[in-house]
Amino acid sequence: MPTVEIDGRKIEVEDGKTVIQAAERLSIEIPHYCWHPGLTIAGNCRMCLVEIEKQPKLQIACNTRVTDGMVVHTQSEKTKTAQRAVLEFLLINHPIDCPVCDQAGECKLQEYYMDYDRQRSRMPLDEKVHKGKAIQIGQHVMLDQERCILCARCTRFCDEITKTSELGIFERGDHSRIELAPGKTLDNPYSMNVIDICPVGALTSKDFRFKARVWYLESTNSVCGACANGCNIEIYHREGRLFRFQPRFNPEVNDYWMCDAGRVSWGALQGENRLFEVLVRGDDSFAPSDPTTAIATATARLQTLARAHGPGAIGVVVSAKASNEEIFAARKLGAGLGATVTGISWSPADAFADDFLVKADKNPNTQGLLRQGLTSDVAAVEKLLAGVEAGTVKGLVLVRADLTRWLDAARVRQALERVDYLVVLDSEGTETAQCANVVLPIGTYPESDGTFTNHAGRVQRFHQAVTSAGQARPGWQVLGDLVAAVSGAPVARDAGGVFAALAADGGAFAGLDYERLGEHGATTANARASA
Ligand code: SF4
Ligand code: SF4
Ligand code: FES
Repeated sequence: MPTVEIDGRKIEVEDGKTVIQAAERLSIEIPHYCWHPGLTIAGNCRMCLVEIEKQPKLQIACNTRVTDGMVVHTQSEKTKTAQRAVLEFLLINHPIDCPVCDQAGECKLQEYYMDYDRQRSRMPLDEKVHKGKAIQIGQHVMLDQERCILCARCTRFCDEITKTSELGIFERGDHSRIELAPGKTLDNPYSMNVIDICPVGALTSKDFRFKARVWYLESTNSVCGACANGCNIEIYHREGRLFRFQPRFNPEVNDYWMCDAGRVSWGALQGENRLFEVLVRGDDSFAPSDPTTAIATATARLQTLARAHGPGAIGVVVSAKASNEEIFAARKLGAGLGATVTGISWSPADAFADDFLVKADKNPNTQGLLRQGLTSDVAAVEKLLAGVEAGTVKGLVLVRADLTRWLDAARVRQALERVDYLVVLDSEGTETAQCANVVLPIGTYPESDGTFTNHAGRVQRFHQAVTSAGQARPGWQVLGDLVAAVSGAPVARDAGGVFAALAADGGAFAGLDYERLGEHGATTANARASA
């Protein structure tokens, strides 16, 4: 393995590594625009020029492989002069857009100008070349040609990752510009990744533009809940509101990317139909209640039915939208009531899927259900419904399970009106919730800590980004209160504690440790191997 010295510090790297990668390991920043670790090397922006001893000219760090004994200087006068020259060149025709540009706060042109340049422009304003502005090039993406520095990251993404080649660089010299290929629009299912990788404000999100200045936003590590792939994401939020999802690097799951459907799925998580109030049915309408009374009322009623009618008189249904912790707590509740517990994982028959990231299973935790020993097919729920119709199932607890979505809605409504007691735990005011005796609002996954198990059996943590409004609380917490009321035993008061109880329960989760899942998760086998 070759050893390289960068700014007086030595490091050994694997054969084939480049100077920019070696510097990164030493936490030495080499400014760069066109290089992206998920794409091939273009070497066109020249921002990464560095001085290498025994080389007559400066070399680009992104495309120079480390050789043994190489000595690199990133802070020498020659390097700094080159960095200033490259920035001056890139800014010659750049518009004075920073005050109104949506990339401000995360623009590499702004940042590098402040860190490596700070010269006054020698270019008269009225001589700048003008190009197209605010061009919608796809459903989600806006292009500003003037701001583009022609790094070709976006074109390489469309050529190499999606292989759809919607974008190209047209014309020559200072008239070069990014444009759609003839007859194309940027409408592939991963189109919004070009927004992330564009280092400047040339490609921006139609969805996020002008919604918030990024320096006012906080970010929290999470996992996308819109399909079974479990792409790692960062949730950007402020004062309890979600603003955007962006992919977070995980080489085992999604690399640097995520799909557009997952990226815009945050909107539905804070839609108008959210449930925030604990509701208890009176004679003919719902009345607000406090959680303690509602939980005491619900458990007393369910226990009475269970005692009067024996095992199987209560049914618990938990969907694959629930976290591992919610599923575990639902199972414990079912055990305490002698109930039949069943899972349900449902997706539209025509759900989009591909061989890259997107899965046809639009639930984040089908594997969580299966690995806790629950079935996930509609048949088990139908059987339970038949029990309601036959009068053998007297009470139901539905956790994130709107049965009207998966079964004949009229039949479900009829059955739910017939059941003696119905408790619904959900984040949304579903049609099923309309039939409930008690409605307990629970938070969405950005409002809770917990874990999902993705399609490959990888258990991944998500963190609470925002607090639920009103009386909504994390699902595992509300279910924990129900379990405590039924069993009289103490229950875990945080998601990590619930996960520890799940792991201690044996089965597929045995040996997993909540903290050691880290930010990239672990499969059961990995965790056992590393435990
Ligand atoms: S639009 Fe952005 S990503 Fe594409 S070439 Fe221009 S600067 Fe690079
Ligand atoms: S592929 Fe699935 S998990 Fe990944 S971002 Fe898209 S919807 Fe979310
Ligand atoms: S990052 Fe090396 S040439 Fe662009």
